[in-house]
Amino acid sequence: MNATIKDVAGGKPLAAILRNATVRFADFTAIDRISLDIEEGAFYSILGPSGCGKSTMLRLISDLIPLADGEVTVFGKSTEAARLAREFAFVFQEATLLPWRTAIENVCLPLEIGRNRGIDIPVSDWSPTELLELVGLKGREKALPHELSGGMRQRVAIARALVCKPKLLLMDEPFGALDEMTRDHMNLELLRIWQETGVTILFVTHSIPEAIFLGQKVLMLKANPGRVKEIVDIDFAYPRETSLRDTLEFTRYSAHLRQLLETC
Ligand SMILES: Nc1ncnc2c1ncn2[C@@H]1O[C@H](COP(=O)(O)OP(=O)(O)O)[C@@H](O)[C@H]1O
Ligand SMILES: [Mg+2]
Repeated sequence: MNATIKDVAGGKPLAAILRNATVRFADFTAIDRISLDIEEGAFYSILGPSGCGKSTMLRLISDLIPLADGEVTVFGKSTEAARLAREFAFVFQEATLLPWRTAIENVCLPLEIGRNRGIDIPVSDWSPTELLELVGLKGREKALPHELSGGMRQRVAIARALVCKPKLLLMDEPFGALDEMTRDHMNLELLRIWQETGVTILFVTHSIPEAIFLGQKVLMLKANPGRVKEIVDIDFAYPRETSLRDTLEFTRYSAHLRQLLETC
């Protein structure tokens, strides 16, 4: 079975491969035969109407829910093996920090869990302090979550996600709860982090401009059942600046994606 997957991949390094991946909840098909190659180091934005299976797809790749049919491999491993090897990390809409731990203590948590269980886990080349610096929180190491803004808490969650040196970052509407200005700023920061770390990113969002601004590709899903509607290449070079959003080309992508979304 794996031989077939490698053939199809054509020797390109791939972070994740889905082949006719299907997820069912009882007799409801949430994801229906999705096939996809995610290149290593890529940035994919994922858009689609509510309930089309965006979160389900990330949860499938991260081994949180089982596959009903088809195949999924992450860096050539089963999703379970990839989870155990800490190949990926998840960032949710809510930062889910432990309120009684400081920023740095929250960042260190995955390392402590690994150590306590006696598991040999990968460790980032950046120290926890350097990771907090990478996400723009230098000097706030000792702050408790309630002393930080929503955007800052999400930065801590990103630093924590990076501490086990994941090769794949799964982000499910991570900036959805932030105000627009903070979100725009976080978009720039995330692109910088992506370029500095080389991590592969799958980024779910409800926002068409956010999807275009961030992604090399925008994966549009359709609902009932969840399938790939179209993959749109976004041909803007990096680093990207906020003013990109004011260009005609950006508006064209935006119009195309809106039209796709309306017919999902
Ligand atoms: N644990 C579950 N049990 C039953 N149905 C679920 C479960 N998780 C998701 N679903 C259903 O699967 C579909 C896709 O959900 P989801 O992936 O959360 O959508 P999205 O993130 O695109 O809004 C929805 O119809 C949702 O109700
Ligand atoms: Mg969702």
